[in-house]
Amino acid sequence: MKQGLFIWLSVLFVVSCQNGLSTKEKEMYLLKGQEIAKATAGHLGGEVKKKMGEGGVAKAVPFCNANADGFTEEMAKKYQVLIRRTSDKFRNEHNAPNPEELTQIKRYRALLDSGKKLTPIVEQDTEGKVHFYAPIKVQKKCLSCHGVLGETMEHKADSIIKFLYPKDKAIGFKEDDLRGIWSIEFRD
Ligand code: HEC
Repeated sequence: MKQGLFIWLSVLFVVSCQNGLSTKEKEMYLLKGQEIAKATAGHLGGEVKKKMGEGGVAKAVPFCNANADGFTEEMAKKYQVLIRRTSDKFRNEHNAPNPEELTQIKRYRALLDSGKKLTPIVEQDTEGKVHFYAPIKVQKKCLSCHGVLGETMEHKADSIIKFLYPKDKAIGFKEDDLRGIWSIEFRD
């Protein structure tokens, strides 16, 4: 009887260690991650819209090139986290995914292909660091710079982009495609 209890407690211990975060903690990180992703997207999106209004792609792309990293950094500093926007079809090589991010991108793409809903997740790595991942879907307003050449994206826009990003992989998207993911690492 006593031995049975010991085994049961050991199992419980192992299970709880494998999954170090409580449901409540996971919920908290999920909310925080969503807040940070939304704020960063809003910050960046607002500026891109402004520059598009001022001078179209010719003005907005060099602006993104010069400021996208700085904007993300600014938000990362504010929230004391690491923020990345990453994609397997990246434009800027700095945004290339690490192996775990690539796994998450593939997982989201498989879900999307099978018609499932994509939701943010929180995971703890082997070092105990907490990561937030969320899908980035393509919207209509993204197509002028990430769309299908000659259809939703002009060749002129592509030339401007390819001048700054000769190895660009981030075109050919349609509305609702998976563009990439948010990857946020919380500091303890
Ligand atoms: C005015 C053109 C423009 C528009 C509109 C635009 N983007 Fe981008 N996007 C860029 C540029 C330029 C970069 C590279 C920024 C850099 O150097 O970090 C980029 C990078 C990204 C990245 C980072 C990964 C990578 O490929 O380097 C994601 C994710 C992304 N865009 C998603 C979107 C989404 C989603 C929308 C619509 C809501 C959007 N973009 C609208 C120009 C644009």
